[in-house]
Amino acid sequence: MNTAAVMTALGCIELQQRPMPQAATGAAIVKVHAVGVCGSDTTYYRHGRIGDWVVEGDIILGHEAAGEVVEVGDGVTEIEVGDRVAIEPGTPCRQCTQCQAGRYHLCPDLVFLATPPYDGALVQYIALDARTLFPIPDIMTYEQAAMVEPLSVGLWGCQRAALRPGDDVLVTGAGPVGILAAQAARALGARTVTISDVAPFRLEFARALGITVEGVSSPPQERFDVLLECSGAPGVLATGMDRLREAGRAAMIGLPKESVELPVSFLNKNEVSLALVNRYQNTWPLGISLIASGRVSVDDLQTHSFSLEDTATALEIGACDRRSLKAIIYPQDVRGTAVRTDY
Ligand SMILES: NC(=O)c1ccc[n+]([C@@H]2O[C@H](COP(=O)([O-])OP(=O)(O)OC[C@H]3O[C@@H](n4cnc5c(N)ncnc54)[C@H](O)[C@@H]3O)[C@@H](O)[C@H]2O)c1
Ligand SMILES: [Zn+2]
Ligand SMILES: [Zn+2]
Repeated sequence: MNTAAVMTALGCIELQQRPMPQAATGAAIVKVHAVGVCGSDTTYYRHGRIGDWVVEGDIILGHEAAGEVVEVGDGVTEIEVGDRVAIEPGTPCRQCTQCQAGRYHLCPDLVFLATPPYDGALVQYIALDARTLFPIPDIMTYEQAAMVEPLSVGLWGCQRAALRPGDDVLVTGAGPVGILAAQAARALGARTVTISDVAPFRLEFARALGITVEGVSSPPQERFDVLLECSGAPGVLATGMDRLREAGRAAMIGLPKESVELPVSFLNKNEVSLALVNRYQNTWPLGISLIASGRVSVDDLQTHSFSLEDTATALEIGACDRRSLKAIIYPQDVRGTAVRTDY
């Protein structure tokens, strides 16, 4: 039995049986234990597209995943059966110019979980390139391992903004991505980290993690070396960049639905720079160690737990419960009352 939660139409999830995957050369079979729900899963579920990626036919969602290796194919040496692993959702071709240049996340042939036409991880067993699997220490839970994915977005954003120890950092947007980007910045040596949001409960959450918070109504005073834009809201990039010091650096992580305007003639005087961020590369080992060591705290981000059967509810929870941050789905728990794993 290999039960999958399949999106068969807009707003429609069905449990279906899929064949057990086979471990080809270089691949491994992972028994999926925890899958975090991302805003992109919800967008595909509701609207069937993100930019140029359009869902056509059935698709399995979910790309923030972790599980246990149950079989390895020929030629797999880095991991073995029984390893508990965090899954990097992108498999590049490893041959093209971008891959050869070390920018494998920009590979034009990247196979990315739950990005059409590729299926994702809301299934009990999945075959993956063994090089996308990163063993986690015994003390780490599968839920924590699944959070390496959204943490990676923040880690790569910090790198794209050339964050240096001692920098003062402003993070705009305190959703899961912003909260993890703020913690990434702190772990990488930021002197101060300030986060802003329009939602008071999100600021409360950030404050409880020891991050300085700023409501959007308070008059902005401080200036910063680095901006990590994580709201995707209109106008936030421009106002955030305006608060950078001379030679400040911004990374655009949030994805606005529309084109954004930048007052470049004003921003010009400080020679601030802007880096765009498309996911991440080479962040899993660091992400795992930051979470395992407690330097990045993810447990309280998980506000909801669902069995595979309740995938549709999990995909909608962000809209229904204002206090939700991250829902985790447990594919091994097909029809049960999902609970956090404690192994
Ligand atoms: N670049 C990438 O590779 C990548 C990867 C993952 C997610 N993302 C993007 O990151 C963004 C954040 O993701 P998330 O899951 O945390 O989303 P989210 O919607 O949970 O969080 C966004 C937060 O921004 C806040 N916000 C809205 N207007 C604001 C304003 N004017 N000032 C400050 N905060 C404001 C919201 O209240 C919310 O808390 C999304 O746009 C998502 O598409 C990008
Ligand atoms: Zn995601
Ligand atoms: Zn490639």
